[in-house]
Amino acid sequence: MEKLMITGGRPLQGTVSISGAKNSAIALIPAAILAESEVILDNLPLLSDVAVYSEILEELGATVSWEGSQMKIDPSSIKSIPMPNGSVKKLRASYYMMGAMLGRFKEAIIGLPGGCNFEPRPIDQHIKGFEALGATITNEHGAIHLHAKELRGNKIYLDVSSVGATINIMLAAARAKGATIIENAAKEPEIIDVATLLNSMGAIIKGAGTETIRIEGVSELHGCRHSIIPDRIQAGTYMIAAAATRGNVLIDNVIPKHMEALTAKMQEMGIGIEEYDESIRVIGASRYEHVDVKALVYPGFATDLQSPMTSLLTQAQGVSVLSDFVYSNRFKHVPELVRMGAKIRVEGRSAIIEGGRLNAAKVKAADLRAGAALVIAGLTVSEGVTEVTGVEYIDRGYDHLVSNLRQLGADVWRQTDN
Ligand code: EPU
Repeated sequence: MEKLMITGGRPLQGTVSISGAKNSAIALIPAAILAESEVILDNLPLLSDVAVYSEILEELGATVSWEGSQMKIDPSSIKSIPMPNGSVKKLRASYYMMGAMLGRFKEAIIGLPGGCNFEPRPIDQHIKGFEALGATITNEHGAIHLHAKELRGNKIYLDVSSVGATINIMLAAARAKGATIIENAAKEPEIIDVATLLNSMGAIIKGAGTETIRIEGVSELHGCRHSIIPDRIQAGTYMIAAAATRGNVLIDNVIPKHMEALTAKMQEMGIGIEEYDESIRVIGASRYEHVDVKALVYPGFATDLQSPMTSLLTQAQGVSVLSDFVYSNRFKHVPELVRMGAKIRVEGRSAIIEGGRLNAAKVKAADLRAGAALVIAGLTVSEGVTEVTGVEYIDRGYDHLVSNLRQLGADVWRQTDN
């Protein structure tokens, strides 16, 4: 079993460069299925989910080559092959195979899902969107069967502004007949990134990043070259780690606009923030004020930074209340932080956090962002060694985590126990 070992208490210092966004990458790779010629993706993060997605495309007959942060996908020989099992079961975001295959072949059989398990995550809005475009959908032994004689554009109002449903509907609608309008669409930067790629492939998508997206279907899409936006959650995690250790870190290759909700909260706590064109400097202080945080859809505070933020708030004076209005029960990090001496209780959708010192402990990451929270907590503890298991979850979202933290002066290493 692999674990991360952390001797904390060292303020992080230096520069860290952020890779491309995981949640964009795992939508952009399946989007390439819709093209008839080569798609080149630059600034790709080196993550296990990205590797699984390249495996899935290869199983369908695509030629995929991956060198450093560049992936070349030639989808011209892709075939409509049923995928009830296998690699698709390894990640939750294989739901994008539904929209991409439906768009290209008007049919798909996809086994679902895998991935992070912090709470049940329905896909009813994805299904509602596909049905509105004319697809028939059944669930047979855990695999989703989708079929359409033809896909026709339609008006779709999302009951919840779901990132996944918005992207999935864009994928299918890009090659449907006529216009699709998504109302109450999600506005996350990853939606804009996917629309930018599809438009470079010849799609006609307007309004991505607003609550109304209009997609004019086209009969064919072509290859292109696209550079993935920086990962705002990875950037936010390093910003929080810098502050939690009372360090001074330049986070490079970020879009400061994407970080606004976090930046504002950190400033409210008394943390120094300097913004540049493509970087942000975080300057820690000896005392932080308590704040209340509400995780909401973009441009609100990101739910994916809610768990790391919990760790930072243990370092503030007084009582902070952190509520998550995207997921109702994303608090698997809390009992582990309590094992480290944190004074936190969960009430409904909120964690109530009383600032205080943490101590080293053996803790387990139950999901990706919970893992990030535990690493940050470990970095604040100067006596003893914090051991974090569940490293496989952390590896799903943070490439080069150990080397990046070591470069910033942290005493962190991987250890494998038999
Ligand atoms: N929801 C529904 N029905 C649906 C879809 C979503 O009720 O059909 C609900 C969910 O249960 C949740 C809310 O809507 O309460 C938002 O879910 P959304 O669909 O937006 O989430 P997602 O697309 O499944 C993506 C990210 C998550 C991130 C959320 C919210 C990917 C692959 N995943 O998930 O990232 O938390 O958006 O921003 O893009 C992570 O990176 O750690 C992660 C979990």
